[in-house]
Amino acid sequence: MLHREIFVCLKLLLLFPLHVVAQLRTDGLQQWPVPYRRFDRRPPVDSYCEAFYPFCPTGDRDGRFPYMRDSDIVSVYRLQTPVWEFKYGDVLGKLHIMHDAIGFSSLETGANYTMEWYELFQLGNCTFPHLRPEMFAPFWCNQGAACFFEGIDDLHWSQNGTLEKIGEVTGSQFNEMAQWVQDDNKTGIYYETWTVCSDPGPNATVWFESYDCSQFVHRTYRKLTEVGAKLSSRSQTNYTKIYLYSGEPRYLGNDSAIFGQPALKNLATDIRQFYHAFRPHQSIFDLAFSLLEAYKKVVLDKSFYLYYNFEYWHLPMKPPYVQITYEEVPLP
Ligand SMILES: *[C@@H]1O[C@H](CO)[C@@H](O)[C@H](O)[C@H]1NC(C)=O
Ligand SMILES: *[C@@H]1O[C@H](CO)[C@@H](O)[C@H](O)[C@H]1NC(C)=O
Ligand SMILES: *[C@@H]1O[C@H](CO)[C@@H](O)[C@H](O)[C@H]1NC(C)=O
Ligand SMILES: *[C@@H]1O[C@H](CO)[C@@H](O)[C@H](O)[C@H]1NC(C)=O
Ligand SMILES: *[C@@H]1O[C@H](CO)[C@@H](O)[C@H](O)[C@H]1NC(C)=O
Ligand SMILES: *[C@@H]1O[C@H](CO)[C@@H](O)[C@H](O)[C@H]1NC(C)=O
Ligand SMILES: *[C@@H]1O[C@H](CO)[C@@H](O)[C@H](O)[C@H]1NC(C)=O
Repeated sequence: MLHREIFVCLKLLLLFPLHVVAQLRTDGLQQWPVPYRRFDRRPPVDSYCEAFYPFCPTGDRDGRFPYMRDSDIVSVYRLQTPVWEFKYGDVLGKLHIMHDAIGFSSLETGANYTMEWYELFQLGNCTFPHLRPEMFAPFWCNQGAACFFEGIDDLHWSQNGTLEKIGEVTGSQFNEMAQWVQDDNKTGIYYETWTVCSDPGPNATVWFESYDCSQFVHRTYRKLTEVGAKLSSRSQTNYTKIYLYSGEPRYLGNDSAIFGQPALKNLATDIRQFYHAFRPHQSIFDLAFSLLEAYKKVVLDKSFYLYYNFEYWHLPMKPPYVQITYEEVPLP
């Protein structure tokens, strides 16, 4: 065990100067939080990834937005509802695991719309990879995207969640936002569940930011404010965050760097073993064993392998390890 760890460390030391370069700022310091990587365009989805629920079934196929006349007044709604998983009933609602979206309604046409950003292949697949026997590197189905569709299901949002009008924009402000959403949707392509921090206190260093439905909502609010909208809410605007707590993360490398080099076989095997405990698809029986394994890895070994920007990082975990919060993020 000890021998193996020393071996991994040695190999990492050898690898480090090679791969860490791309992560550094011009002044040679690591930038925290690590910036979420933007891409030129969205790559086609691998056919291995299968959606359990189709993505955006009633949205426009090409993600087009309706054009609003400048004379129009478009109301903006804050939408939030507990994530409802068939398997766990409303447990996720009790834990305040919420899904966020934005609603719009046009005064001139009377039509209304819902806009949200979510996983193409469900949350489990965005959080943990698949271990495929024919592939050494873990395989991720972690794309997320924006969906804009006609209609607001009032009951769905208001009954156990929130449906609140938070402002009005002109038609051209709406059109400007629509253009921005399309660009954002093309360049921000994968879902990231975890927010990684040094501790739960107010002065914590944030190592990695999440990239999920609520972050999309915050970005959109900021964009709307930037084009001149005034948003306000009568109630506290709280959002779900899923935290990991760790000491300073260590950069490991991307798939080809780790899984393509025989010298890093031990690290590669360790990463596979780590994710073995978190397979997205498992029976209740497997899950009981997996949770024990996961507990051991995260709490006893104080170790977590994070995949961010299609690269692996090692997190030296510390108490309280994992936390789900429902905390206030004020409107801009
Ligand atoms: C993976 O990392 C290596 C070394 O840093 C780099 O040369 C290569 O382009 C990267 N591959 C991808 C797909 O980003
Ligand atoms: C996750 O991915 C697998 C493999 O692509 C797929 O079969 C499954 O439907 C996806 N969703 C869930 C909820 O597991
Ligand atoms: C975002 O991208 C996805 C995947 O390509 C696409 O299905 C969707 O229509 C796009 N949404 C918007 C609002 O552009
Ligand atoms: C959206 O439109 C539907 C159908 O006209 C209506 O029932 C619903 O109340 C509207 N919701 C909002 C928030 O405007
Ligand atoms: C609201 O919650 C109750 C109890 O958890 C559930 O039965 C009901 O279906 C939920 N309503 C909606 C619209 O999701
Ligand atoms: C956070 O930092 C501020 C300013 O440096 C300091 O006054 C405050 O005591 C710190 N709070 C905690 C909980 O460390
Ligand atoms: C909302 O967030 C605030 C501050 O982050 C917190 O004090 C409050 O308890 C939260 N509300 C709920 C319902 O959890």
